[in-house]
Amino acid sequence: MKIPLAKPEILESDIEAVTAVLRSSRLSQGPMLQAFEETVANYLDVVHAVAVNSGTSALQLGLRALGIAEGDEIILPSFSFMAVTNAVLAAGAVPVFVDIASGSWNLDPAKIEELIGPRTKAIIVVHTFGFPAPADRIISLARHHGLFVIEDACEALGAELSGRKAGALGDIGILAFYPNKQITTGEGGALVTNSAAVAESVRCLRNQGRENSTQWLQHCEIGYSYRLSDLNCALGLGQLLRIESILERREALARCYQRYLAANEELQSYCEFSTGRISWFTYPVLLPSGVNRDEIWRELGQMGIETGRYFPPAHLQPVMHSVPFRSGDLSETLSVAQRVLCLPFFNELEERGIEFVCRSVNEALAVRYPAAKAG
Ligand SMILES: Cc1ncc(COP(=O)(O)O)c(C=O)c1O
Repeated sequence: MKIPLAKPEILESDIEAVTAVLRSSRLSQGPMLQAFEETVANYLDVVHAVAVNSGTSALQLGLRALGIAEGDEIILPSFSFMAVTNAVLAAGAVPVFVDIASGSWNLDPAKIEELIGPRTKAIIVVHTFGFPAPADRIISLARHHGLFVIEDACEALGAELSGRKAGALGDIGILAFYPNKQITTGEGGALVTNSAAVAESVRCLRNQGRENSTQWLQHCEIGYSYRLSDLNCALGLGQLLRIESILERREALARCYQRYLAANEELQSYCEFSTGRISWFTYPVLLPSGVNRDEIWRELGQMGIETGRYFPPAHLQPVMHSVPFRSGDLSETLSVAQRVLCLPFFNELEERGIEFVCRSVNEALAVRYPAAKAG
């Protein structure tokens, strides 16, 4: 049995929707873009959604629209996908890495304040693996210090906290639709905001800095070519219209994993999230300390089970040798980053696949590390 780490769910209706765009000849900046943006905005209950060609582009344009510039400091977790740090570096800003909290693996609000300095301009709250980060607490801290909050919900479409969707609470929310995500547009991303000025600026920047007025080819900013085609939007629209059943399916898969791994007491994953909703992006497990995670990853790979070693800490990436950054104590980041293993997770995964993965994980641990008490 070969089990991939992730796999997009493409239905016949998705293929038909994309084909219809091809037949229409409106491949870009057409009705599907508008419909997708409106549906994203309605789903998150925000005023504006601007679709772009990737989550990273959305982060870059969001930072530009907020006026983040050379030398400004941005607080963000090191335990995250490198796109977040890359966007900060691309803006010429200085990443300031904050540690994560144990249990949620999201940035620790108690460790943020000590990192705020005179050049700090914003905090990027990442809802890692679809588990809601305490955005409301971080937003009140940010307001107190006059900082912007960007919520990176790229892994968390549909996650909820305090009765709101992840991505809708901060000044800006960022979404991504790569094929391993809850919904996909092939490649793609979106920025959501309640600010008309930010939305207008991002619409202008994604299209060569061109003014959104009727003036033909009037360029007022140094812009980019970050548009998302109507083909991508048609795919994303169909998927977004069935998001609730996708999230329910993924929740059921997570419960199934929980059952099959329950006997293994030393393997930690998320507990319940009582004040909101997890949007399951993957199924991460924290291996017991002392276990060589990479050895388990390799062994599972040899058995045809693809797992993910998310995330190597951003501050340790080679690119960071040549750029300025600051950080606080990152001990939890360092500990978690070498022990997390993300198990296969996609809508079409079946119970027998999960059973096979869990049996293999439990056996790999029991054989190599009897002290780890694999069930
Ligand atoms: C937390 C986070 N931010 C940003 C991104 C960037 O998205 P993209 O790959 O679409 O550029 C990702 C992608 O996986 C992500 O996980």
